[in-house]
Amino acid sequence: MGRYPRAPPRDGADRRSSPMTTTTATAVGTGRAAARATGLSKVYGAGETRVVALDDVSVEFHQGEFTAIMGPSGSGKSTLMHCMAGLDTVSAGSATIGEVELVGLRDKQLTQLRRDRIGFVFQAFNLLPTLTALENITLPMDIAGRKVDKAWLDSVVDTVGLSGRLSHRPAQLSGGQQQRVACARALAGRPEIIFADEPTGNLDSRSGAEILGFLRNSVRELGQTVVMVTHDAVAASYADRVVFLADGRIVDQLAAPTADSVLDRMRRFDAKGRTN
Ligand SMILES: Nc1ncnc2c1ncn2[C@@H]1O[C@H](COP(=O)(O)OP(=O)(O)OP(=O)(O)O)[C@@H](O)[C@H]1O
Ligand SMILES: [Mg+2]
Repeated sequence: MGRYPRAPPRDGADRRSSPMTTTTATAVGTGRAAARATGLSKVYGAGETRVVALDDVSVEFHQGEFTAIMGPSGSGKSTLMHCMAGLDTVSAGSATIGEVELVGLRDKQLTQLRRDRIGFVFQAFNLLPTLTALENITLPMDIAGRKVDKAWLDSVVDTVGLSGRLSHRPAQLSGGQQQRVACARALAGRPEIIFADEPTGNLDSRSGAEILGFLRNSVRELGQTVVMVTHDAVAASYADRVVFLADGRIVDQLAAPTADSVLDRMRRFDAKGRTN
């Protein structure tokens, strides 16, 4: 089993009783898309070092939905998030945030869009070493000249358990604490969409469950849109939907996931020799 306590039951109808699966190569639905990739490909390098990290991926992340992305190491999860968040260029296809097409945007427009509409939790934290934890958390808003919502900030800081560490610099924090700063930074500005690349990868089960619960509540109660990469079936069970990647392609998806149904799906991939 995974490292996190089981996700508490969902409100309303128990959607776990009717897991929906598809085996189509795309994951495009009908809800309003907060972000969408269409025929997205990403190729790194050339010649012998050429790597097709994403191969014709079409996927939608609906507004107010919590989506988990799973797949073996090297399957393209981080690349997909980076391309869809405008942090990396695409080789072919399209990526949109809301109605805005990212492909072809100038650097300045892209920077502005990322700053104003997207929260990103990097796999490698990306904290600024000279700033304190609090300064790192409020940096995007400070750069944008946006006022910090103090009550919301307090609730974010409290949830990630950083109240006693706000004046520490990243080097004075543990790996897990740095990851919590990175999560708080993405949440603090209440962006339209949060992309989180393994946000609980370095956390103990309690801190991990708290962040996952917080992410899910922000989706349920505030209509936040969250896309999260994880290797952990229990973490994925906090999401509304799991999208599975293998070799740069979407190979499956699972609605209303439970830890068991996710593990079951992963075992099926194992049997095909497609995941680690
Ligand atoms: N900057 C780069 N230059 C060349 N190849 C790259 C680059 N970034 C990623 N790749 C390759 O693209 C593929 C997908 O990488 P990616 O980081 O998206 O995988 P991932 O699914 O996030 O894996 P992990 O679970 O280990 O984080 C890998 O084969 C990787 O080696
Ligand atoms: Mg990755």
